[in-house]
Amino acid sequence: MDKNLALEFVRVTEAAAISASKWAGKGDSNSADQAAVTAMRERLNFIDIAGTVVIGEGERDEAPMLFIGEKVGTGKGMKIDIAVDPLEGTGVTARGGENALAVLAAAPHGKLLNAPDTYMEKIAVGPIVGNAVSLERSVGENLKSIAKKTGKEVNELSIVILDRERHKKLIDDVRAAGARIKLIGDGDVSGAIASAMPGSNVDALFGIGGAPEGVLAAAAMKCLGGYMEGRLAFRNPEERKRAIDYGLADPDKILKLEDLAGGKETMFVATGVTDGTFLKGVAFEPHGVIRTHSVVMRAKSGTVRYVEAIHRHSH
Ligand code: FBP
Repeated sequence: MDKNLALEFVRVTEAAAISASKWAGKGDSNSADQAAVTAMRERLNFIDIAGTVVIGEGERDEAPMLFIGEKVGTGKGMKIDIAVDPLEGTGVTARGGENALAVLAAAPHGKLLNAPDTYMEKIAVGPIVGNAVSLERSVGENLKSIAKKTGKEVNELSIVILDRERHKKLIDDVRAAGARIKLIGDGDVSGAIASAMPGSNVDALFGIGGAPEGVLAAAAMKCLGGYMEGRLAFRNPEERKRAIDYGLADPDKILKLEDLAGGKETMFVATGVTDGTFLKGVAFEPHGVIRTHSVVMRAKSGTVRYVEAIHRHSH
């Protein structure tokens, strides 16, 4: 994939983030999401790619824009699969909270998992730990492996977990093993990325979040050289059936990083909507100046590029 595409994609997440951030703290998550979706789609359609949305806003009948299967781009360039979360953290944005992002991942056709909109159990770690962890093992065993690989004591580890009722046992298990926990209100894509970012003071992400967010996080982990596994978590038989309809022959299988986002050419871009752990949010400055902060990653080169952009309203 042409490396310049990565910078084209930044314009897409910047546009989504700017539009969504105008809704920060206004208590209206739907409008924030809609603004991000509209801006993202409009911008994507300027790019010379024959893109297909594989992770998007939902099925065609439930999402008018960026639905799964929607063709995006001018149709002129390479065949590319696109995974988007125009606003990762709709509730966060509505509350004016932290860590909301506009996110996009891209890979050559067939390299991103077509995940249904169910939950996914996840474990994500940085490059030092790599595949020394697995969802096949117990929480205690995984923590011991992380400690061994990072040269830390278990009680020095910091594990990010979404603060949800469903994680009570997981939280108890991590605490029983002696590790520390960072509970987050939302945004497990950021949580996963933090586990692979040097200096983040996070060693792993554990727990259940959205499956689409799992694929996006996996794309970032692929670029960062980290490791991640996922297993779809179904709330009812219909969701399980939907996974089979999406082409997953064994919907209960543990999905390795390569199954989630396997392409060596994977790209991941994100722009901060609200201030967060590794990206600042959109800032509206005097005289129509808007400042955005984005990250652009490419698996092929392993580059992680931070892009601070100044946008002028009048231009
Ligand atoms: P939204 O953008 O849909 O608000 O998702 C935020 C998020 O926290 C994700 O990061 C996470 O994967 C998912 O929600 C968890 O779902 P739930 O809030 O149902 O536990």
